[in-house]
Amino acid sequence: MRIYLIGYMGCGKSTLGRRLAKHAGLEFVDMDHYIEKRNCKTIPLIFSEEGEAEFRKKERKALEELAEFSDVVIATGGGAPCFFDNVDLMNRTGQTIYLNIDPKILADRLLNSKTERPLIKGKSKEELVAFIDETLNKRNEFYTKAHFQITDPDILLDDIMKMVNS
Ligand code: S3P
Repeated sequence: MRIYLIGYMGCGKSTLGRRLAKHAGLEFVDMDHYIEKRNCKTIPLIFSEEGEAEFRKKERKALEELAEFSDVVIATGGGAPCFFDNVDLMNRTGQTIYLNIDPKILADRLLNSKTERPLIKGKSKEELVAFIDETLNKRNEFYTKAHFQITDPDILLDDIMKMVNS
C-alpha cells in the first residue's frame, strides 16, 4: 500500500496524511521534509541558492526513492505532480488522491501559515489570490489525473481507506 496525497500548497496534505497514516497503521512521509533531510538544506535555501529548476530535480529524485517505500502515506509538495512525468510515476506506483480545496480557503490558509514557501513569499493578499488563480488553472491539468479526489474537508478517514481499497 502506497498512497500519494497531491494538491496545491495549503490544501492540508500533511495534516490529512499524518492522520490517515496513523488511522490505517501506515508510515507517514512528508516529501518536503524528506528532500530537506536528503540534501541537508531547507527548501527556501535550495530555491534561493540553486533555483527552482534544481529544486525540481531534487524533488524528482526524492519521488523516485519514495516510490519504493511500502505501507506509506506520502504528502507530496504542491508542485511535485506538475513537473516531468511525476504524476504518472505516482499513478503507476500507488493510489493518488487530489485534495481539491476552494482557492479562497487556500489563500486564507497560506496567509496564516508559518511555513516559508518561496513561490509566494512577500505576496499581498490580492497578489496571492491572483497567483493561486493563475497557477491552479495550469496545475489542475496534472492534479486531476489523480485516481481519486476529495472535496469534502470533513470526509471520514474510514471512507478514504474504503475509497482507495475499492
Ligand atoms: C511548492 C510547494 C511546497 C514546496 C515548495 C514548492 C509548489 O510544498 O514543495 O515550496 O511548487 O507548490 P507544500 O505544498 O507542502 O507547501
